[in-house]
Amino acid sequence: MNERGTGTCYPPNSFGSTAQYCCKLTDIPDPPDGHRFIITIATIPTNAFIVRTENGLCAFINRCAHHQLELDWIEGKFFSHDLDHIICSTHGAIFEPDTGFCVAGPCIGKSLKQLDVSVVGNKVFIRSSATTKITTRI
Ligand code: FES
Repeated sequence: MNERGTGTCYPPNSFGSTAQYCCKLTDIPDPPDGHRFIITIATIPTNAFIVRTENGLCAFINRCAHHQLELDWIEGKFFSHDLDHIICSTHGAIFEPDTGFCVAGPCIGKSLKQLDVSVVGNKVFIRSSATTKITTRI
């Protein structure tokens, strides 16, 4: 049993009242770039990011499964040179872009923390809870 994520990108309006606006669809660049934003979880502001993948938009907490450091070595650059994987700039862990599952590196078999994404028109939403709030977009 591993910690593989689902990689699910949800259909429009599937979150109902639990959806929080994240950004415009057009704010999200193509790989190697992603869009960074801040999500507040239980009052703690946390960096997160959203990327375009072959299976749709996928969002994660910007914290490596190895040492809990941010992944992007240049702000907003998340992908490996071949654009096939998300890569951690610190020790080179390689993650599947649609699940956050680590396929190589020091945290192999672990996963990034994935956030649920839904798109309505040009608006991108993240599923939230009573203790989750997107406060800032960077
Ligand atoms: S902190 Fe990401 S691979 Fe070590």
